[in-house]
Amino acid sequence: MDIRSPSKGYEEFYDRARDRGVNFIRGRVSRIDEDPKTHNMVVHSEDANLGMPIEIEADMVVLATAAIPKKGSADIARIINLSRGADGFFMESHPKLKPMDAPTDGVFYAGACQGLKDIPSSVSQGSGAAARAATVLSKTKWKIEPIISIVDETKCRNKTAKCGVCVSKCPYGAIEAEPNKPAHIITASCHGCGTCVAECPQHAITQMHFTDAQIIAQIRAALEEKPEEKIMAFLCNWCSYAGADLAGISRCEYPPSVRVVRVMCSGRVDKDFILEALRLGAGMVLVGACHLPYDCHYINGNYKMKARTDALKGMLIKLGMSPERFRVEYVSAAEGIRYAEVITEIDADMKALGKEKILAETAKLRPILENMLKRRLSAPASAAKPAA
Ligand code: FES
Repeated sequence: MDIRSPSKGYEEFYDRARDRGVNFIRGRVSRIDEDPKTHNMVVHSEDANLGMPIEIEADMVVLATAAIPKKGSADIARIINLSRGADGFFMESHPKLKPMDAPTDGVFYAGACQGLKDIPSSVSQGSGAAARAATVLSKTKWKIEPIISIVDETKCRNKTAKCGVCVSKCPYGAIEAEPNKPAHIITASCHGCGTCVAECPQHAITQMHFTDAQIIAQIRAALEEKPEEKIMAFLCNWCSYAGADLAGISRCEYPPSVRVVRVMCSGRVDKDFILEALRLGAGMVLVGACHLPYDCHYINGNYKMKARTDALKGMLIKLGMSPERFRVEYVSAAEGIRYAEVITEIDADMKALGKEKILAETAKLRPILENMLKRRLSAPASAAKPAA
């Protein structure tokens, strides 16, 4: 059979094994029995290359067992805020740019905590992680990302009533809210997902470079003409936006009706953004996020978005919106083809619904949505200017 092995020296190892008489067969084992007379093991499988069932009698059968994360890794992930992949192993901050960094600053990975690794890879990763830690320890000052959240103390409800919504939603524990004082963001701990901004009931938190006013201005510009023929898409920077980028680079074809607003994390998608898009008459609304359960680069922003949008969708359907008009899709950075397929599917749904129906629904929903967006709509026009 045709096998290509990854990593240095593995191909030679495979060749040597074949030279010494090891036969590699591609297939899926269905059963292993013991022959009652010879006490040999009989492996029942299929030969995928021949496309037929096979039986192999052997003196001994050795099973390759699966590797699973160490017991207790879920507890460590919870205590120091680490992301885990779908297989339960710890997930890096970025697979290409920060392969050893955890999403929590100052935590670096080495070895099999991140997934199966051989000894040379573990040793080189250990050296790399030590060097990464040394760069932090050797500095007296450390620069942080400029995309952080800030609280408008005059608006924060925690001054007069117990609130703390932002504290409970921050995946990094970067917000403090003492009784009768406005919430305070520890900027060095804030990673800039913007989940607190979307969750704040008072609109008292702003995300630098992704303010509400900036995003709403983008929505309004995108839906200026023929909104009923547009798909308004909110895509998270790390997965679905990168997936859209890949679709473009790979020259995947998809309908030109989509208009994209980039947010750092789907947790940043305020329900008001969706309501505003529908108020303006968008044909379809899409929120694109990293795959559940563990792909979000801000630990669990995708879960926070899911909880928010599930409730919102139920309410919009009760108000008379067709369910197809609002969708949440999970697209990874490697799924350019899937992104193109999702947009093609949504565009087909929009055409199947028809302009008349979309326009009629918008006319019916608009007064209710305007009422729900009262505070946004009464905001001064200058609020739409980007923050300095
Ligand atoms: Fe993609 Fe959070 S970064 S959903």
